[in-house]
Amino acid sequence: MPETLPFSQACENNKPFILEVLRELFVDRRSVLEIASGTGQHACHFAANMPWLQWQPTELAANLPLLQPRCARYEGDNLAAPVALDVRDRPWPVPVPDALFSANSLHIMPFSAVRSLFAALGEDAGHDVVLAVYGPFNYGGRYTSESNARFDQWLAQQHPDSAIRDFEAVDGLAAAAGFALQRDYPMPANNRLLAWRKN
Ligand SMILES: C[S@@+](CC[C@H](N)C(=O)[O-])C[C@H]1O[C@@H](n2cnc3c(N)ncnc32)[C@H](O)[C@@H]1O
Repeated sequence: MPETLPFSQACENNKPFILEVLRELFVDRRSVLEIASGTGQHACHFAANMPWLQWQPTELAANLPLLQPRCARYEGDNLAAPVALDVRDRPWPVPVPDALFSANSLHIMPFSAVRSLFAALGEDAGHDVVLAVYGPFNYGGRYTSESNARFDQWLAQQHPDSAIRDFEAVDGLAAAAGFALQRDYPMPANNRLLAWRKN
């Protein structure tokens, strides 16, 4: 019987739009560290469509079993085996390469973990590293849509530490870690793709 792989419909929907932006952002990059890779749909799709990149998927150790099966089926040679990474742990188990990507993770992890993520990048990321983060954000303390307001209510019911983050708070952490905002791309379904570069 064929194995059923863990699947996210959201990933399926957003991956072509994210790919379009990443092709531009990562055109001169060599290697990407993905934080919170989930089911691996993004990792496999982006590695297959940007063959010049080496892609390193990671997840919390407890969620690696969701990520490993799809990555194990990947047929190219530019996707590394998934590694356990909790952004709160120091040191990180893999070096920070010249690019990082994470989707729909900052509103799931507690804000203290978002702080840890940027603190680690402040220490570990070298000059000229590009960081691309996809997901919903609030601006000026306001939701960008009714659907994001409903989503935030739903998140709070799932876990009290989960919440849509304020762009300004995250950008402040990025700035403290030495990253300057390069571009804020509006994405479908009231999401954003934020791109920073370490100066
Ligand atoms: C909504 S899922 C997103 C998964 C995938 N990136 C996607 O777009 O479908 C959020 C992910 O964040 C991960 N996560 C939560 N806390 C984390 C932490 N402290 N460090 C690393 N990953 C974390 C969870 O394990 C989960 O897979």
